[in-house]
Amino acid sequence: MKESPLIRQAAQIIRNGGIVAFPTETVYGLGADAFNALAVARIFEVKRRPYFDPLIVHVGNPANVEGLVKEIPSSAKKLMERFWPGPLTVVLLKEENIPDIVSAGLPTVAVRMPNHPMALSLIKESRCSIAAPSANPFGYLSPTTAEHVREQLGDQVDLILDGGPCSVGVESTIVSFLEGECRLLRPGGLPLEEIEPLIGKVEISPTEDRPSAPGMLPRHYAPRTPIVLDWNEENLEFYKNIGLLAFQEAKNNVKFRHIEILSKKGDMREAAANLFTAIRRLDALNLDLIMAEPVPEIGLGRAIMDRLRRASGTKSANSLPA
Ligand code: TXA
Ligand code: MG
Repeated sequence: MKESPLIRQAAQIIRNGGIVAFPTETVYGLGADAFNALAVARIFEVKRRPYFDPLIVHVGNPANVEGLVKEIPSSAKKLMERFWPGPLTVVLLKEENIPDIVSAGLPTVAVRMPNHPMALSLIKESRCSIAAPSANPFGYLSPTTAEHVREQLGDQVDLILDGGPCSVGVESTIVSFLEGECRLLRPGGLPLEEIEPLIGKVEISPTEDRPSAPGMLPRHYAPRTPIVLDWNEENLEFYKNIGLLAFQEAKNNVKFRHIEILSKKGDMREAAANLFTAIRRLDALNLDLIMAEPVPEIGLGRAIMDRLRRASGTKSANSLPA
């Protein structure tokens, strides 16, 4: 995979100011040279993403972060050493040279080193840091296969690298390190339970009017079909055309037109990896509603429930991951 002609071509496109969709271990990204503001602007255009929503800069090597940020607090360094490459994004005070469009005018920048051979070769070959949001239209579910990207952004991107299905399946965990405080901005592919033993208590951001991570908007990661989290068996009598997103097994087979099971063996990693594909399959069936079963909020279950709440638009201050 290392220096395949396709990756070389993709790197050439990035160097020439184009945009390329590429796999990471979490979800597919849509990347451009982070220091080419015009190229980055095209990402916003293609995604129809509001300019107030900053992008994550992807690096191929932890040492490259030094040129992007003012300083790296020791707790951030610890996490980077332990979990990179991996599903962890750190938000730090940015160096002035980072284009404003990348950081949405904030004094900070989000950085991450992805754990996927294609992503890492692409960064290495293109010899630049790559600014990349998830490769989906703004507000919709993130893509976890190249096919998802093709369906939604197909001809609008210069090239799509196909690295198969993403192994983690939910976006990276975002932690900010500002003014001496560590704060979880988005639960994701790296569980909080793995972070806190290393650096102590991490604050959890409350929902805000002006979110510091717009992935934290109440309705986000949403399919077209309404998702309902808060339901019971009695509710179901009124509906004919509904689907079920089940965690482990389907208790009520008859009522649903289609059932997706996230993990038969109840494995949270498998459930996370299947989440967006399962919702997409349900969304393609023109159902009236998708009933979703809650999963236990431990480990990756926290990220899964966060995405389900946002997809259902029921995110509320007291439903923050605790
Ligand atoms: O797993 C991931 O993180 C994927 C892959 C492609 O790396 N990327 C991803 O990017 O999910 P995106 O743009 O869909 O989500 C990034 C989130 C957004 O909610 C954005 O607001 C937040 O990160 N973010 C970026 N820069 C930030 C900053 N300086 N401060 C606070 N939040 C920031
Ligand atoms: Mg996204």
